[in-house]
Amino acid sequence: MPLKKLISFNLFASLNDTIEYFNIAKVDKKFIMLGAFLSFLLMLVNLYSVSLLFPLANSLITKDFSILAKQPLIGSIVSKFPNLFSDPLILFSFFGLWLYGTIILKSALKYALFICTNEQSKKASLLVREAIFNRYLLFGKRFYDNTTISHLNHIMLNSTKSLKMQLDLINNIVVEVSSLLVSLGIMLSISWKLTILVFLVVPIHIVLSKKAKKGITTLSSEQAVAERNFTDKLIDILNCMPLVKGFSQEAKELDKFSKVNAIEVKKDTALQRRMQLFQPVQEILSTTTTLIVAGAMGFLAISDPTITAANAIVFLYLLLRVNPNLTNISNFDTRLASISPQSKMLKEIFDDTDKYIIKGGEREFNGLKNKIEIKNLNFSYEPTKKVLEGVSFEIIKGDKVALIGPSGVGKTTIINLLLRFYDCPKESIFIDGIDINEYQVSQLKSKMAFVSQDLMLFNDTIEANILYSNPTLSKEKLKEIFNKTILNETINSLKDKEQTLIGEKGANLSGGEKQRIALARALAKDAEIIILDEPTSSLDPKTEEKISELMQTEFKEKTVIVIAHRPAILQKVNKIAVLNKGKIIEFGTKEELEEKNVLKDYFKQKTN
Ligand SMILES: Nc1ncnc2c1ncn2[C@@H]1O[C@H](COP(=O)(O)OP(=O)(O)O)[C@@H](O)[C@H]1O
Ligand SMILES: [Mg+2]
Repeated sequence: MPLKKLISFNLFASLNDTIEYFNIAKVDKKFIMLGAFLSFLLMLVNLYSVSLLFPLANSLITKDFSILAKQPLIGSIVSKFPNLFSDPLILFSFFGLWLYGTIILKSALKYALFICTNEQSKKASLLVREAIFNRYLLFGKRFYDNTTISHLNHIMLNSTKSLKMQLDLINNIVVEVSSLLVSLGIMLSISWKLTILVFLVVPIHIVLSKKAKKGITTLSSEQAVAERNFTDKLIDILNCMPLVKGFSQEAKELDKFSKVNAIEVKKDTALQRRMQLFQPVQEILSTTTTLIVAGAMGFLAISDPTITAANAIVFLYLLLRVNPNLTNISNFDTRLASISPQSKMLKEIFDDTDKYIIKGGEREFNGLKNKIEIKNLNFSYEPTKKVLEGVSFEIIKGDKVALIGPSGVGKTTIINLLLRFYDCPKESIFIDGIDINEYQVSQLKSKMAFVSQDLMLFNDTIEANILYSNPTLSKEKLKEIFNKTILNETINSLKDKEQTLIGEKGANLSGGEKQRIALARALAKDAEIIILDEPTSSLDPKTEEKISELMQTEFKEKTVIVIAHRPAILQKVNKIAVLNKGKIIEFGTKEELEEKNVLKDYFKQKTN
């Protein structure tokens, strides 16, 4: 039977993943060695204590206790005090105490092993989680566009579970392999012929049991997929609950949920059933193996005097151990393979491919001195669809520039590139004559404040959400900002004032209130470049008018880029860029565009 079939070579690939995993978790190699060593000692003590039971039973049956004095370790002590141990009762009692001692030693080793692997895996879990979170912080916006939160959550939660499984697995490998070698050594010393027979019969058993197990592996991966679909669906529905209610789709969602739920339960039931069926198959196979060897033993015993009754019992006992030993060893690849998806996911997290990490350059950015130039900017998210084509315009320091145009023409894309959310093509955007790619990303962002189209709010207090951009802002300044963003009335009407919790994604607030909090957060930062993506779209005309005044008061000295299409803001800016289908169709001062009648034409169109 080729070894390759018994232990698939995938084992080595999976082991490699495990080692990488340990490196990420900074698992101390010394602890792994110590754990393995303790496991090995435990196995020896285990085997030793069990091996003492046979002579004990033998001596009780034959009433000849001298055999006890011949056992390893205990024998050397007994032989030092021949007078004391000549009394069979003392010898028997001492033997009993000796057995007790081995059990205590075994328990102590087990505890030490637990401490060693458990503490280590807890410490490693801490580091693995931190390392994963650090990676999450690094990934670009585009990565998050294409990934579900439940998937990232799954990786985070399962990383620790599989870490513990891998540490246990290493110890198990040591135990199984070493115990196999020790057992085989003893078996060989009893009868090499029978040992060879064992080697002929046991592999057949393993191959058959592997065949029986194949279905389990397939079912187990199907069950994992079903479980993931279940959580993904659940989170998706929960996230859109207002929509479900708004369109009265409860029955339909229940139906969708029931489907994924039923599939998950069905797969799990099938898996459990298969696992239950596997146990009797395993038992029948191992009984067959034992019967074959026992039969051969009976046959050999006729002509071979070394096969005594005691030897035969020891041999069969060891065979019963070797059998699961070999099966376990041959199953290491499947066990590793079951952890392998986890290791793979983790490996993927630590690989930079498709993470859209924005690296930036080395150049310092100490503030805008002159202008931002967008020169022949072409951009697409997907290779097949152009989003921006040859976009060019300039933003002079202190300008208030509005980007207008129908929905989907690429307005948000332009500011996403300015904000370095996505990597922009080289030599397309220049700040003070230097390609934006050359600046340090963090320095660039430190000079910018923004309000995004989809408002991002933490499930925290109003104050915490506003101070997010500037935690050191004074109380007075914060009050001023409440005034400027017309938030004071809202805040005063709340029981906990600015300490009111706003709920998940600001669920306890109106759209306009959320928008004004996002604006307040941008104001709190007091940055010199302000980027606003439809900051007043949810406001009533009166509030919008007041907010628009910020352009000439609060933002007077600042450079502002604002996506807007309503007159209130457009009247307060000095330049306007009109976009259509990814191109700039007009750019100029408000007066210039008014002269060309562009704005009038534009307002006739329906915009977002
Ligand atoms: N993350 C993304 N991945 C792929 N396509 C995108 C992404 N974001 C926007 N788009 C596409 O790019 C085009 C421009 O989008 P956007 O800049 O948001 O338009 P606007 O802000 O002018 O309404 C749209 O066709 C949109 O579907
Ligand atoms: Mg947009």
